[in-house]
Amino acid sequence: MSAQTMEQLVSLCKRRGFIFPGSAIYGGLQGTYDYGPLGVELKNNLKLAWWRANVWEREDMEGIDAAILMNKLTWRYSGHEETFVDPMVDCRSCKLRWRADQITGKCPNCGSTELTEPRPFNLMFKTAVGPVPDAESFTYLRPETAQGIFVNFKHVLDSTARKLPFGIAQIGKAFRNEITPRNFIFRVREFEQMEIEFFVKPGEDEAWHTKWVEDRIAWWQSVGLSRGNLEPYHQKPEELAHYAKATVDLLYRFPHGLEELEGIANRTDFDLGSHSKDQGALGLTAKANPNAHSTERLTYYDPDAKQHVVPFVIEPSAGVDRGVLAILSEGYAEEQVKPPPPERLAAVSDALGAFLKSVAKSEKLKAETKDALRVEGERIGGALAEQLPMVTALLAMPGADTIELAKKLRGQAEPVVDEFYRTVLHLKPAVAPIKVAVFPLKKNQPEIVATAKRIRKQLQASAAMRTVYDDTAAIGKLYRRQDEIGTPFCITVDFDTIGQGKDAAQKDTVTVRDRDSMAQERVAVGELESYLRERMR
Ligand code: GAP
Repeated sequence: MSAQTMEQLVSLCKRRGFIFPGSAIYGGLQGTYDYGPLGVELKNNLKLAWWRANVWEREDMEGIDAAILMNKLTWRYSGHEETFVDPMVDCRSCKLRWRADQITGKCPNCGSTELTEPRPFNLMFKTAVGPVPDAESFTYLRPETAQGIFVNFKHVLDSTARKLPFGIAQIGKAFRNEITPRNFIFRVREFEQMEIEFFVKPGEDEAWHTKWVEDRIAWWQSVGLSRGNLEPYHQKPEELAHYAKATVDLLYRFPHGLEELEGIANRTDFDLGSHSKDQGALGLTAKANPNAHSTERLTYYDPDAKQHVVPFVIEPSAGVDRGVLAILSEGYAEEQVKPPPPERLAAVSDALGAFLKSVAKSEKLKAETKDALRVEGERIGGALAEQLPMVTALLAMPGADTIELAKKLRGQAEPVVDEFYRTVLHLKPAVAPIKVAVFPLKKNQPEIVATAKRIRKQLQASAAMRTVYDDTAAIGKLYRRQDEIGTPFCITVDFDTIGQGKDAAQKDTVTVRDRDSMAQERVAVGELESYLRERMR
């Protein structure tokens, strides 16, 4: 399982209404995406699962929702004004701008080696505050949610009487003027974070750091990611952010490679120290930013040691959008529903062979493009019965459309894919956008339709499961549509349900179909809610 290319996910997301490019009708805005009807459900489910596990189910956590706009002094003392920068180079030829650490002396666009010296570029978006835009009336859109927690540390402590260790959790938007947004929703300019600042006694930080890394891996598994696709990476000293003593990145095997999904940092007493007044009296271990403006000492009175201490902070910081991408990728599969007849498979195999021969002979394609097409084509051809749906991805690769025989290959492959394969999202029920879909076997049979609609309404109201009704196609097609968006269960209401079938014993029962096994069971309408609850668990 799991997606093999980003194109598979981008295409599914657009086709089925998970995620759209932002401001598309005006030509788009690079680095922004909009979540559609299914995407918002998936994203909300992911955030709810995180909140439930980290706030409701723990006894040592409080939640907050701080403002996105903060006094600009926050960003001076957090260190972001000075250090939240990437070194940039400009190509003197094509005028494009690149991150200096991501290229090797050559412009990736035009190949020119005429590049400027690296210059620092701050990733924070500046915005005017109030009606008179002068030199002082600005702040930044927050580049991380963390600072809203640090500046509220005293408020939460005083209003809840918490003892160390305890944490403050927050989910919210963050903004970064990324130089090269890319890989769909992986690196964007507007995104959401799920962050915890977990406050501990100095000296207990390293043990808590280790514990949080384990907890976070277990949580990602609980929402559907496999352990084999997650890899903890211990940052080297030269990679650490200005505030961190140690950071473990949780990497995930995305379609574009092994990349960061979440960072778990030991931020020491840097942040509370930097936002505190009277820093000299606090016994800080970190090199805090000298603060001339804060009105508070951000300390904790330790009743055992009978002294004030500045807590150390462990910060598990996850990206919501990267979480959505990982979950979609992990769940994505193109599966055979029934074996295609050998003669139809042979016809696709012949068309693929002819296409690859034509690629090899092409005078229009560069050698590396030919190689990429040949390698992928041979991989698919080597296990055609399983890999046949990947022909679509092959034909979407650069250069494929310049080959005349591409049309013939598409014409042979697509009808076989439609008839014998399905795209399915094997999502955990907790994150699936829709939990149950209800269909009438006949949409022109009023009693069947009314019963199906009543079941939908009941499940939605009493079981609080997102349930939809659909009668816009034949049952087989409706199943496929729900498989593709990850709906764990489909219910079909038929003549037996309304007591007009062959078997009187089946009255008031429905067919429940399981997305993953495609197995069907007869279940009494009165037991549907408990049956579904049990199965979803
Ligand atoms: N408060 C710590 C912090 O913000 P970070 O590693 O810069 O640390 C934490 O960001 C997480 O936020 C990342 O692991 C990633 O999941 C997400 N994230 C960061 N920049 C992002 C971007 N441009 N687009 C999408 N997600 C991003």
